[in-house]
Amino acid sequence: MILPIIAFGDPVLKKGAEEIEESYPDLQQLISDMFETMYQAKGVGLAAPQIGKSIRLFIVDGSPFADEEGEEPDPKANGIEHFKKVFINPIIEEESGPKWSFQEGCLSIPKIRENVIRNEKITLTYFDEKWNFHEEVYDGYAARIIQHEYDHIEGVLFTDHLNPLKKKLLHKRLVNISNGEISIDYKMKFPNKK
Ligand code: NI
Repeated sequence: MILPIIAFGDPVLKKGAEEIEESYPDLQQLISDMFETMYQAKGVGLAAPQIGKSIRLFIVDGSPFADEEGEEPDPKANGIEHFKKVFINPIIEEESGPKWSFQEGCLSIPKIRENVIRNEKITLTYFDEKWNFHEEVYDGYAARIIQHEYDHIEGVLFTDHLNPLKKKLLHKRLVNISNGEISIDYKMKFPNKK
């Protein structure tokens, strides 16, 4: 089932999300709905708060990313085509490596892309959809997608990383998004739609 994606301005996107337990109701269905929702919106990641659930769960599939990169092999995209995963109760244990800038976008903030600076490498612990525990190291685009989605479960949006001037310049467009004054080809829920 395709779920509406919560737009910028909704308080659920600004809230730290809660850990879940194995007994969380209909978890597998929720995960499958989130993948369906993400694919139809052509996203590479989706966090539970973006479908209105304030829980520490996000999904990623980097394969569209790999296609987008064109013919030139890009070391930062290494392995991204097989990067389909579910992250439950993740914790970023460490961020390291050089900082790099990349234009991020977000399904909750359509049609806005801005450069965000983040560390290249992360060490992450999490449970997968079968509740197996993992500790893994990611870098490049994979780390970037995880950092963006991880921010969502902490109540942080990529726009929160922008400098005050950039934010000011975007203000009107962000207000328009929260009011639903935007044309978009996937289902969204706008907090301030009249
Ligand atoms: Ni996002």
